[in-house]
Amino acid sequence: MSEHPVVSWSEAGATHSARWRSERGASPPRRVVIADERMNTEAAYRHACEGVALLWRGDFQNARHLLQALACARENIARLGLAGQVEVAQADLFPEGRAKLIVCNPPWIPARPSSPLEHAICEPDSRMLRGFIGGLAAHLEPGGESWLVLSDIAEHLGLRSRADLLAAFDAAGLRVAGRTSVRPHHPRVADAADPLHAARAAEVTSLWRLVVR
Ligand SMILES: C[S@@+](CC[C@H](N)C(=O)[O-])C[C@H]1O[C@@H](n2cnc3c(N)ncnc32)[C@H](O)[C@@H]1O
Repeated sequence: MSEHPVVSWSEAGATHSARWRSERGASPPRRVVIADERMNTEAAYRHACEGVALLWRGDFQNARHLLQALACARENIARLGLAGQVEVAQADLFPEGRAKLIVCNPPWIPARPSSPLEHAICEPDSRMLRGFIGGLAAHLEPGGESWLVLSDIAEHLGLRSRADLLAAFDAAGLRVAGRTSVRPHHPRVADAADPLHAARAAEVTSLWRLVVR
């Protein structure tokens, strides 16, 4: 093999090639296909299993999410012996169809993430939270319910109000059927030197049971 193997792919009717360099010394892929956010997890996983590389043309962070979500979710499911019962699907908010129970644990701080890890907890404008609440009625089966798991620390930080949340439920035609709450007890809650101490000490995480009115 030459020092710089070459990979080739077709894109928009033309053949392209580039030199291949892998930090871990991996061989060049046999085939390269173009991918972006429209490629679902199943297709991405199938390609990966077949040794086909994805040349990502979408948003960089979304590519990271796809890879992390795929690997992490599938590993967890396999470890728990649930591969026959759980299907992993990549979706922006809701997958196709309706369900009797929809559970969501969206990022809980309406702010711009400053690292890939922070995408789990921060999102500008509460995009997932608002999209989830707004889309629930169209994705629940009649008589179904949703469990929304959400920390209220954004309220204690003045980034969102309880009234906003309740108004969003109301505007989406939802009723709160119940709520179960817990207080965190990790060590930082008791650390008075933490700049977020007041908010952390007051934080409650709730499972909101939501039904269509
Ligand atoms: C608080 S974390 C959930 C963590 C999860 N409960 C767990 O234990 O792994 C929020 C997750 O929502 C994902 N997310 C954000 N926006 C999304 C969207 N529009 N559609 C689907 N997932 C989204 C984030 O990538 C993040 O993994």
